[in-house]
Amino acid sequence: MKALAIMGSPRIKMNTDRVIEKIIQGLKQEEVFVEKIELAKRKIEPCTACGYCESTGLCIIRDDMTDLYKQFDESDIIIVGSPLYFNSVTGITKIMIDRCQAFWSSKYILQKPSIDRNRPRIGVFACTAGAPHQESDYIGATVVMDLFFRAINTEYLCNFFVDRTDQIFVGSRPDVLENAVNLGQRLFKEAKIRIKHSI
Ligand SMILES: Cc1cc2nc3c(=O)[nH]c(=O)nc-3n(C[C@H](O)[C@H](O)[C@H](O)COP(=O)(O)O)c2cc1C
Repeated sequence: MKALAIMGSPRIKMNTDRVIEKIIQGLKQEEVFVEKIELAKRKIEPCTACGYCESTGLCIIRDDMTDLYKQFDESDIIIVGSPLYFNSVTGITKIMIDRCQAFWSSKYILQKPSIDRNRPRIGVFACTAGAPHQESDYIGATVVMDLFFRAINTEYLCNFFVDRTDQIFVGSRPDVLENAVNLGQRLFKEAKIRIKHSI
């Protein structure tokens, strides 16, 4: 079983990264093979709406996204972590998402999916926020994630929200960290059920 963890905060080893690491810890306890991508360290250009993917299903830009398309295709579990920025995901996360227009075009314009539709992927959105939790603050980010997960043929399983990070660093919240480890283990079990049913 393979998992892909996308870390969409520009700050390495801070709140979002810590949460992602704990989810990974839970996955690794179940011996899931995990690849982690720190978007801040990758070179991913924004979509230019050139239209190339509308006739090919592929992106014309050759950068770190090229490998990522393949990794999405080959993963059973996909975790996207982003801090809440202006009630949405970070810029680097959104740039990565926009580049998935290539998958969208391949399916809905060309009817020739460039992602394997038969693989039962599950996805989680891990979102840290500086302010105290207000459900409405997450609407923008979660509607983006919903469409993103649909573009990459992934069932949007759940969110993992962590609030008040501007007051308390996530690293000093053992309850949150433990819940993240438990989520990793749960993801393994959920993916296992879906893989079993797809055979
Ligand atoms: C540009 C920017 C915009 C932000 N917008 C919000 C916001 O809309 N709501 C919120 O609760 N926190 C907001 N924050 C705070 C971050 O979401 C919070 O500090 C987050 O946990 C940072 O994650 P990190 O430590 O992984 O970088 C914002 C921070 C920045 C830098």
